Amino acid sequence: MRTLAVPARRDVSDPTTAQGGRSFQELGCAACHLPELRTGPSDVPALNNQAIRPYTDLLLHDMGPALADRRPDGLATGSEWRTAPLWGIGLTETVNDHTRFLHDGRARNLEEAILWHDGEAAPAMERFRALPRDKREGLLAFLRSL
Ligand code: HEC
Repeated sequence: MRTLAVPARRDVSDPTTAQGGRSFQELGCAACHLPELRTGPSDVPALNNQAIRPYTDLLLHDMGPALADRRPDGLATGSEWRTAPLWGIGLTETVNDHTRFLHDGRARNLEEAILWHDGEAAPAMERFRALPRDKREGLLAFLRSL
């Protein structure tokens, strides 16, 4: 189980997807959904000091009152959530037969998941809202390629 690979990305060379990847950086999504992390030392060679692309910083962020469940959990206050990893997210429907996102599944699709971002993520969400339709679609195509 530990060495099962994540799914390979799809449609990477598609121009719309590539444009969406640039928007992902420009809007500030990548500040929390970090494209690259490095694993630490491991006695399993395949896991030892590897570059991985999980699209998370693995950190807690205050996501504002609308996403808060007001139930502190460990180190997290009632409005903090760990950045959800985005690798494999484009295969959610294929694998899980649904497209519900966020910690309680309230978002019916990827676009709704972005629009619920608030608190520390409000500036990035506002920049997404201000994008013209075709660039929004590009960003969603990029997410579907992960
Ligand atoms: C301040 C940090 C931060 C920024 C900036 C941010 N996110 Fe997130 N994102 C999160 C956190 C934390 C969650 C988990 C929230 C939850 O589960 O309620 C999340 C969840 C998501 C999800 C749902 C994942 C899932 O599996 O349910 C998507 C999609 C997503 N973010 C995309 C984006 C995009 C696109 C942007 C840029 C417009 C962005 N995020 C900017 C922190 C951030």
